Amino acid sequence: MILQAIVGVLVLTLAVVVPFVPQQLYEENYLEKTQHILSLDYSSELFEKPTTVAVTGANSGLGFASVQHLVHRCIAKKNSAAKMTIVMACRSMERCDKAKNDILQQYNQPDAALVELVTLQLDLASKESIQKFSVELQNKTPRPPSPPTEKEDPEEEGEENNNDEDTTDTTSDSTTTSNFAVPPLHVMINNAGVAAPYPQLEYHPAYGIETQFHVNYIGHVLLTHYVWSNIMAVNQQDPTRKARLVTVSEGGARFPVDPMKGWYAQENTPHTGILAPILNMVTNMKQYARSKQGQLFFAAELQALYPDSLTTSAAQPGYTRTPIYVSGFHGFPTFLKYIVGYNPLGSMSPEQGAETILLSTLDQTAQYVGPKWFFFGPPVAVGRGDNLNAGSVHHRPFSRQRTMALWDRTIKVLGIAEFGKKDYVTM
Ligand SMILES: NC(=O)c1ccc[n+]([C@@H]2O[C@H](COP(=O)([O-])OP(=O)(O)OC[C@H]3O[C@@H](n4cnc5c(N)ncnc54)[C@H](OP(=O)(O)O)[C@@H]3O)[C@@H](O)[C@H]2O)c1
Repeated sequence: MILQAIVGVLVLTLAVVVPFVPQQLYEENYLEKTQHILSLDYSSELFEKPTTVAVTGANSGLGFASVQHLVHRCIAKKNSAAKMTIVMACRSMERCDKAKNDILQQYNQPDAALVELVTLQLDLASKESIQKFSVELQNKTPRPPSPPTEKEDPEEEGEENNNDEDTTDTTSDSTTTSNFAVPPLHVMINNAGVAAPYPQLEYHPAYGIETQFHVNYIGHVLLTHYVWSNIMAVNQQDPTRKARLVTVSEGGARFPVDPMKGWYAQENTPHTGILAPILNMVTNMKQYARSKQGQLFFAAELQALYPDSLTTSAAQPGYTRTPIYVSGFHGFPTFLKYIVGYNPLGSMSPEQGAETILLSTLDQTAQYVGPKWFFFGPPVAVGRGDNLNAGSVHHRPFSRQRTMALWDRTIKVLGIAEFGKKDYVTM
């Protein structure tokens, strides 16, 4: 009773106060004003060498703001020897092209020698779309010139360098292909996500896996699998570099949930009765947390298996005003979704929230970046030098046993015989 009264008063206060707080307070010239937080002088090899970055869900919210941040810095750095190609991966090409045009206009058509935006369709709910994305990526992103020494290698001119043989040890950094014909993907930002997208849980028509879990977790696993040769190409082509995998996480990932559970309909019987809407909403949010934790487990396991080829990190953006609160969060009353989604008090603009993603991307030593004050504030990196299993992610350790168990199950369910072994033709 007392709790209900407190929540009621809080909601009413927000409803009255929110419309009077000027959004501009937070939004205006944000990128310019906050250079002190994440200095433009921040040195990263991404601005010193040609780099390709892919961002999923790049048309909206945090994904869009992450692209903005990168473009902003590429232009400021003015280093044409380090052109950045940013692949904007979006579910809808219409929204993707609009987002790209918005950025190009905002920066007055940036010099193509500094940064290029490539739009590609990607629906993480569809294996076919993920596969198609990975094929298109091969022709839409730059390959480095072959090294001069290769001329002396008689096997180098084309077909002969297909080293499928040396991939038997999946715990080493050997891979399916090792050549300069594969365009490297230096950074992958797994940002796209849904949160309670349906009032009740729904299941993928082909795989039977719960949709939210499928989009957030399974979709990104499949994506990584299909672009694996591009990720591995980074270190193969330049041994001084490693690929970077950034997982956009969520505070809920630290809840005591188990990503091994809740995959299929039989594990999630819908609630009935008077409390059903609330209980179903809780199940929905639990699934969201499971999907996010699954992503973190996957990244941790990937890092453990391929330590010489890639580094991974998690970015927890905090409470950020994006469309996700209105398009998702089913079960919450509509007025509350709008209040939470647009409330400027204690929340951050997408540009602010995306600074965690930016810092996770640029600082290869960061394992976890989150807002300073739990869900709000400038980005702080913690867990430097640890691995993701060591508890850096959201300050709560998870064991290698658990990440391995999830990895094994996922690979088995998806029918992947060998992770990263591509089944498409790149050329
Ligand atoms: N906002 C926050 O407070 C907050 C806090 C913690 C974590 N996060 C995380 O931040 C990430 C970005 O969310 P956001 O807040 O920026 O929300 P958003 O503006 O709604 O962005 C979500 C993005 O994911 C895309 N997406 C959804 N389903 C997809 C699918 N099946 N295939 C490909 N892309 C799909 C959306 O595309 P469409 O536009 O086509 O729907 C959109 O581009 C999410 O992973 C979310 O969990 C957000």
